[in-house]
Amino acid sequence: MTEVSFSLNGAPVTAEAPPTTTLLDWLREARGLTGTKEGCNEGDCGACTVMVSDGRGAQALNACILFLPQLQGKAVRTVEGIAGPDGALHPVQQALIDHHGSQCGFCTPGIVVSLAVAHLQGRRDFDDVLAGNLCRCTGYAPIVRAAEAAADAPVPHWMRDSPAPQRPPTVDAFAAWYLENPDATLIAGATDVGLWVTKGLRDIEPVAFIAGIEELRRIEITGTEVRIGACVTLAELHRAVAPLHPSFAELIRRYGSEQVRAAATVGGNIANGSPIGDSPPALIALGATLHLRRGDARRALPLEDFFLDYGRQDRAPGEFVEAVSFPRQQDRLRCYKISKRFDQDISAVCGAFSITVQDGKVLSARIVFGGMAGVPKRAAQAEAALVGRPWSLETVAAALPGFAQGFQPISDMRASADYRLAVARNLLLRYYHEDQRTPASVLEVAP
Ligand SMILES: Cc1cc2nc3c(=O)[nH]c(=O)nc-3n(C[C@H](O)[C@H](O)[C@H](O)COP(=O)(O)OP(=O)(O)OC[C@H]3O[C@@H](n4cnc5c(N)ncnc54)[C@H](O)[C@@H]3O)c2cc1C
Ligand code: FES
Ligand code: FES
Repeated sequence: MTEVSFSLNGAPVTAEAPPTTTLLDWLREARGLTGTKEGCNEGDCGACTVMVSDGRGAQALNACILFLPQLQGKAVRTVEGIAGPDGALHPVQQALIDHHGSQCGFCTPGIVVSLAVAHLQGRRDFDDVLAGNLCRCTGYAPIVRAAEAAADAPVPHWMRDSPAPQRPPTVDAFAAWYLENPDATLIAGATDVGLWVTKGLRDIEPVAFIAGIEELRRIEITGTEVRIGACVTLAELHRAVAPLHPSFAELIRRYGSEQVRAAATVGGNIANGSPIGDSPPALIALGATLHLRRGDARRALPLEDFFLDYGRQDRAPGEFVEAVSFPRQQDRLRCYKISKRFDQDISAVCGAFSITVQDGKVLSARIVFGGMAGVPKRAAQAEAALVGRPWSLETVAAALPGFAQGFQPISDMRASADYRLAVARNLLLRYYHEDQRTPASVLEVAP
């Protein structure tokens, strides 16, 4: 049993429960707060969205894959706490009524919370805000109209939770503890681990919650390097890389949903070793270095070398990801996420390209794919066919057969092997054409 204290709809609460109890189960079963719905129970539908505030502000999170200890010292607001204490409706609730934004209503509590958080943050990118909230019967037009109608209304005073600052654990204390307890399951954002519990019904104790460790949450940008702590969330990474590598930021915008990006961490996206994780290809294309720590011992290795084989990474017992860094550089990065749906989908293929050209010749080439092998992998043959040659369509065409030499992708429910290889070839062509300013994106209208 673990004891967790936080604020719930403005009042302090203490929960005593096993550490892998999800907030959704606790709200519905221990507190009778059944406004928060269970749809998928795996982070995909947003019916369980709650607002969680801490020292860094408020965000929308999926309660179904949020364990109670992740809330220590924070403030939670469920749909029951979005209307005022006197029952006054929040502007987004009133607007959803006025604009007929609900039919069966099962999705509505999550949509209300997502829109109330966006309203608090002053955001108007409602398509992105709502990408993680499935609504199957109303359709999004009335919901977006409601969001727009409410946008200028003042933020109700009860929405501004101010949780008490907490003293987080230090990375040194955690490193020493993990060395003594190497079998523990580390939990950062829980967007993978949450599913091991809700869908896999696995017993994962003992567990260590690391997302609150301040030293692991830092982003340091100097004149020569960008260093990202392991527990930096994808939402924070998005903000940090947007001015440096806009294509990386655009890739992250397509990563999961608002709720997933607010929880998922860079360290988790690397350490899980997934061949279809979206951030490793982009980071490897940027020449990233992975920083690992075991007790007081630290080591660094090129990120691509961390991924040994499917399900196997170069990480010793008691060792954890401390940070990932990459050199400051001219922005030559383009990232392409190919998935069946535009929003909230896992990549069939994720390609990241960084090709530098000097005096008309290819100086260096880093081409990396997710979804093409058991690990995120560089296209060594295609890279070699480019370097030192003129940056021309002929050179690109000559490099294309290199993909079939370097990759034997599998066919699965996301894509066939042939499709994956064809996509890989076409993405290099697309990179070239975009570099020549030939419009290539089907999502943009260019002159
Ligand atoms: C609805 C949904 C949509 C998703 N969409 C995408 C997507 O579009 N693209 C994508 O790439 N992924 C996606 N994912 C997968 C998931 O979000 C990512 O893999 C995520 O980055 C994992 O990070 P986390 O912090 O949540 O990790 P956790 O779930 O906390 O941990 C994942 C693994 O990493 C380990 N770990 C975590 N931190 C460390 C550390 N510092 N050192 C060592 N080990 C560590 C854990 O022990 C565990 O084995 C999605 C998941 C969901 C539920
Ligand atoms: S129940 Fe679907 S995201 Fe939580
Ligand atoms: S109103 Fe029915 S799913 Fe949204």
